[in-house]
Amino acid sequence: MKIGRIDIDRPVILAPMEDVTDRAFRQLCKRHGADIVYTEFISAEALRRGVEKSLRKLKTDAIERPFAIQIFGSTVESMVEAAEIAEEYHPDYLDINFGCPTKKVAGKGAGAALLREPEKMTAIAEAVVKAVTLPVTAKTRIGWDRESINIIDVLHRLEDAGIEALAVHGRTRSEMYKGKADWNWIREVKQQARIPIIANGDIWCAEDAVAMFAETGAEGVMIGRGSIGNPFIFESAKQLVQTGVPLPPPDFRQRIHAAIDHLTLSVEFKGEKYGNLEMRRHYSTYLKALPMVSRVRNKLVREEGWEQVIQILLDYEAECEGYAREGKICDDTESLNDHSDKLVLNY
Ligand SMILES: Cc1cc2nc3c(=O)[nH]c(=O)nc-3n(C[C@H](O)[C@H](O)[C@H](O)COP(=O)(O)O)c2cc1C
Repeated sequence: MKIGRIDIDRPVILAPMEDVTDRAFRQLCKRHGADIVYTEFISAEALRRGVEKSLRKLKTDAIERPFAIQIFGSTVESMVEAAEIAEEYHPDYLDINFGCPTKKVAGKGAGAALLREPEKMTAIAEAVVKAVTLPVTAKTRIGWDRESINIIDVLHRLEDAGIEALAVHGRTRSEMYKGKADWNWIREVKQQARIPIIANGDIWCAEDAVAMFAETGAEGVMIGRGSIGNPFIFESAKQLVQTGVPLPPPDFRQRIHAAIDHLTLSVEFKGEKYGNLEMRRHYSTYLKALPMVSRVRNKLVREEGWEQVIQILLDYEAECEGYAREGKICDDTESLNDHSDKLVLNY
């Protein structure tokens, strides 16, 4: 798949996720094989007003390359200005969010709302493409609702506007995260496209990534929720896509150490207080289905010192060695793939 100077065969990409794909998580996913990572979406309005929190989201490290910065907004002017600001941070490409379904974004005319205003969407895309020398891509859904699926029209408009690749989440705005992503529509888009298509929606394990490539013919696949608490999904998906041979699932040691790595990176970038606090919501997925885990989780979410948190995790690893000797740990992909306990989504 080619975007600007990037040329990667069947890339497995970390999706942009607000409050998830910060610097720490992006770098963790890179270590585990993500080919391209995206920042969280960043408000164009906030960037042009110089809001500190949004400017911080533009910060990246060389280790994350190739990476994309994603921006969202509802006016040509704010998006052009934000694109110019983002360009100074030298991403490999700039991505425009035309897919966010939430009230705080779509309710204000940005994100998925632009699916209902294809002319304005095109004007924004054209103006951003003209404003920067970077490659510009977009990410969207298949339409506003089932009665108004317009992704093929949107594809051609964005191609004409100079967009270099399109990531498609196979749901409508109205569907939010309900049901299953419609991969047939992604295949349809791919068949009509002159630019690379990145397929997104409901890849929960390596086998899903293989199926997504096979069923849609897309050049790349993008993983969001399936990577939360499971950065291993990138290496396992890539291995299965490229060789057909599955990687063994991560054992409890690897999972506990991924949590420790994530915490360490989080503290490095956000400091002890916030780095520690923001990690709390991730422990349950890293430790999912391990024995006696609720007691440990309770300790983890109360502890304020990050080094003490690491010690709790290391003690738990030692405890798990004992359970493993007694045959009480079954390391299989089931627990990692079990997404029945739905994530709480504000996005
Ligand atoms: C917590 C959360 C935050 C998200 N934030 C963004 C975002 O900032 N920009 C974006 O384009 N999509 C965002 N999304 C959508 C994902 O990028 C992706 O399209 C969606 O989750 C479907 O892919 P999945 O089934 O692999 O999770 C977010 C999704 C979640 C769950």
